[in-house]
Amino acid sequence: MADTKGTSWSSQMMEKFANCDSLEFLKRQCPYGVAGTVAIAVIIPLLLSVIFLGKKKGKQRGVPVQVGGEAGLAMRNGKFKELVEVPWDGASTVAALFEQACKKHENHRFLGTRKVIDTEVIQASDGRKFEKVHLGEYQWETFGQVFNRASNFASGLVKLGHDVNTRVAIFSETRAEWFIALQGCLRQNVTIVTIYASLGEDALIHSLNETKVSTLICDSKQFKKAASIVSKLETLKNIIYFEEDGASSDSGNRNGVSDLRVSSLYEVEKLGKDNPTDPRLPKKNDIAVIMYTSGSTGLPKGVMMTHGNIVATAAAVMTVVPGLGRDDVYLAYLPLAHVLELEAETVMLASGAAIGYGSTLTLTDTSNKIKKGTKGDVSVLQPTLMAAVPAIIDRVRDGVIKKVEEKGGYIKKLFNVAYKRRLTAVEGSWFGAWGLEKLLWDVIVFKKIQSVLGGRIRFMLCGGAPLSGESQRFINICMGAPVGQGYGLTETCAGAAFSEWDDITVGRVGPPLPCCYIKLVSWEEGGYRTSDKPMPRGEIVIGGQSVTVGYFQNDEKTKEVYKVDERGMGWFYTGDIGQYHADGCLEIIDRKKDIVKLQHGEYISLGKVEAALMSSNYVGNIMVHADPFHSYCVALVVPSHTELEKWAQESGIQYKSLSELCDKAEAIKEVQASLSKVGKDARLDKFEIPAKIKLLPDPWTPESGLVTAALKLKREQVKAKFKDELNKLYA
Ligand SMILES: *[C@@H]1O[C@H](CO)[C@@H](O)[C@H](O)[C@H]1NC(C)=O
Ligand SMILES: *[C@@H]1O[C@H](CO)[C@@H](O)[C@H](O)[C@H]1NC(C)=O
Repeated sequence: MADTKGTSWSSQMMEKFANCDSLEFLKRQCPYGVAGTVAIAVIIPLLLSVIFLGKKKGKQRGVPVQVGGEAGLAMRNGKFKELVEVPWDGASTVAALFEQACKKHENHRFLGTRKVIDTEVIQASDGRKFEKVHLGEYQWETFGQVFNRASNFASGLVKLGHDVNTRVAIFSETRAEWFIALQGCLRQNVTIVTIYASLGEDALIHSLNETKVSTLICDSKQFKKAASIVSKLETLKNIIYFEEDGASSDSGNRNGVSDLRVSSLYEVEKLGKDNPTDPRLPKKNDIAVIMYTSGSTGLPKGVMMTHGNIVATAAAVMTVVPGLGRDDVYLAYLPLAHVLELEAETVMLASGAAIGYGSTLTLTDTSNKIKKGTKGDVSVLQPTLMAAVPAIIDRVRDGVIKKVEEKGGYIKKLFNVAYKRRLTAVEGSWFGAWGLEKLLWDVIVFKKIQSVLGGRIRFMLCGGAPLSGESQRFINICMGAPVGQGYGLTETCAGAAFSEWDDITVGRVGPPLPCCYIKLVSWEEGGYRTSDKPMPRGEIVIGGQSVTVGYFQNDEKTKEVYKVDERGMGWFYTGDIGQYHADGCLEIIDRKKDIVKLQHGEYISLGKVEAALMSSNYVGNIMVHADPFHSYCVALVVPSHTELEKWAQESGIQYKSLSELCDKAEAIKEVQASLSKVGKDARLDKFEIPAKIKLLPDPWTPESGLVTAALKLKREQVKAKFKDELNKLYA
């Protein structure tokens, strides 16, 4: 999914960039001529930087705090002495927050959906069929209208026989009805079960059965999947489906589910309108959502989130995104079954912002499902805020850079000068980052690239995985917007750390959000201690309002990673290793899972070793492998073809193919010597330097499934694919 998104974004970027291919454009935009403008752009900020030099002093973003529980180094957000629990007094549950926000912003636009104007099926030359849509403007419903629909839906649920002891599952792509159904359920204190649409059938059956779901809400796409498994679900009584705008009648959908009551969302709303019931509002500690997340192994686990968890994270995020309010427009397209999106939409609700729904396939003018010549979601909505995962941003960046390379010549030079100037400015000071020079370069170079995302983005939220420094800078410079990088897990309701908008560093995730404390606990065996110099290091443990209560019906797993301290505060053990910078900002540096204990008891951090060995010229990609049955580690290496062939030529080595070269003892010896050298330079221990290596000629690409779209190693997949090679290395 992320791939489709990324590709269509980047291809559109490329197209846009191609359009700014003329000096004419520059001349039009620069009344003082190109040289004059550049001179102004350079001189004025220089002067101002001198004046403002004093302002460069770093500020303390996280400060130490005394807390209960296991010993360690705990930090809190520098601006808040007490933990933030609610966005405002009285909004202690999602249901209360919803009601109060809807009252406050009653007549303002809230949820927007694009109407389907036209659908056509295009047949490609290879016979495959593609659906293309022409979508219209956003049709908006106000806060007041959304509230009425959710209230009616809540009454309808009661009429269908729901009470607080029965659960509802939502299994659908992100859309306005998802949000309305969620709020309807919560108004009757009915717990929602969410499941990623990408989970397999076994996982789906497991989650629905384990939570004894009695109503399943789905879109028509997921309906087919659901219909094939209902016979295995004894507790299921109702299916509620979302009508498809522009599609044919849904009655055909009812096939195969004849024992169940099947209704459309609209029918349930109507039922509720005709049979109104009082809301049954939940309390802070009631479970709002059981969110199923895929574990790396085995069946998915259901994380139990209370109303208090969800509103606390939302309240905390609201304190770190500057100037949130009614003027903001948020593009919603990430899966709502993901805690990141659920929290982001809760933040918009609480702020009175408008939420326009889109999808990955219709995001931009050149997205796969958009009919040629018609507009994608970003162009029509022109959002001010967006959330994204790093894989998407990485792809967009790669696309733009590739396009610039292809263009070459003048365009490439101009882009590079602009990028370098901005980079120096952004990295120099906060003032440099958002000063006058930015405006000028934006006009000359970056405006066109910005229009790809609608041209109005003022803040980007990024979460889900660590964002590389290069990609963060790309957004800062090309999109001209700060990136708020979040760190959090489903178990902490997405809320843990969040980088502040005026923090110009990269690679860090900021101080703790004000809803929680973040503690580092020494992990002696792994060699990470809070007494480490220059920075304290340890396992990241999160405590406070955003920490969820545990896994549904899985006490064993819950006890492993959740603890309640003597003061009653819940702590979640993340398994991630972090370090604290002097200003109280957290950096994620490792994962416990990627650290292996060798036969003689030494611990080896695979990620750390790989990062060190990557600096060898010969290494294109590398995976270090270790296990407890051996005292040494080994490595699979994809060599850099050019470097290896250059060496072979210089050394007079004869070979017919690259794979033959990779098997040559001399080549292996050469690469291994290089690994030893860079390993020693990086002060790796002897056992951390691979004792044996295998050279693999074929690059690891996202298409091969061996690395992610963000080019991160998929350890398990590489291990499985090269099982025999690994075994031979240990033989
Ligand atoms: C559903 O759960 C029950 C226990 O609650 C179990 O006995 C049954 O095997 C499960 N069914 C499926 C299809 O997993
Ligand atoms: C909400 O429902 C739960 C069961 O899911 C119940 O334990 C709790 O008491 C209910 N809360 C209220 C305020 O009725």
